[in-house]
Amino acid sequence: MPEYCVTGGTGFIAANLIKALLERGHTVRTTVRDPGDVEKVGFLRELNGARERLKIFKADLMVEGSFDEAIQGVFGVYHTASPVLVPNDNNVKAILIDPCIKGTLNVMKSCSKATSVKRIVLTSSCSAIRYHYNVQQISPLNESHWSDLEYCKHYNLWYAYSKTIGEKEAWRIAKENGKDLVVVNPSL
Ligand SMILES: NC(=O)c1ccc[n+]([C@@H]2O[C@H](COP(=O)([O-])OP(=O)(O)OC[C@H]3O[C@@H](n4cnc5c(N)ncnc54)[C@H](OP(=O)(O)O)[C@@H]3O)[C@@H](O)[C@H]2O)c1
Repeated sequence: MPEYCVTGGTGFIAANLIKALLERGHTVRTTVRDPGDVEKVGFLRELNGARERLKIFKADLMVEGSFDEAIQGVFGVYHTASPVLVPNDNNVKAILIDPCIKGTLNVMKSCSKATSVKRIVLTSSCSAIRYHYNVQQISPLNESHWSDLEYCKHYNLWYAYSKTIGEKEAWRIAKENGKDLVVVNPSL
């Protein structure tokens, strides 16, 4: 059975992915910022199959190379870790923009180094697609559409701004390194 890595295991989408993969019999690696934080991470160890087939690694989006160990040797990577709440203070760059963009770059670089990795699934967002000044004229939206970064800046849409750049960077690195990337763009 192929082994998978899911980044940001404490997250809502990641935890459900881990559960589904374990239930299908896969061995799963996941990354969290603090494996010793029982309150946040403990529920993962209780999942069916986790005792035998779940390995938890420490990794931070802002630390270059931090995902190398968790990703080296797996067949596929689900990259979900990302700040989701939008801070309403001046720290938006440090709290949201940098972890989203630099974190995606870090994870993609770790995937590129790992010859074992055959497919990467990135959780982007519909917000990487839908923000334009003239959105009504270009509906319906499809894979060719990207949110307008100038529009995002004008309306302080920093989550959309970060997800748009993060996804573009992921496609760039995947192309440069010949990696098979799949992106999902969920709404809420
Ligand atoms: N849920 C939705 O409706 C939705 C819709 C569209 C797109 N998405 C995208 O789907 C992905 C997962 O969303 P979610 O709703 O599952 O989010 P979530 O529950 O808030 O989980 C986010 C995860 O990212 C981790 N994280 C945040 N900053 C980090 C950092 N600096 N280093 C390492 N890990 C960090 C968090 O770890 P900690 O627990 O340590 O904070 C957490 O595990 C995100 O990329 C999000 O943008 C979600």
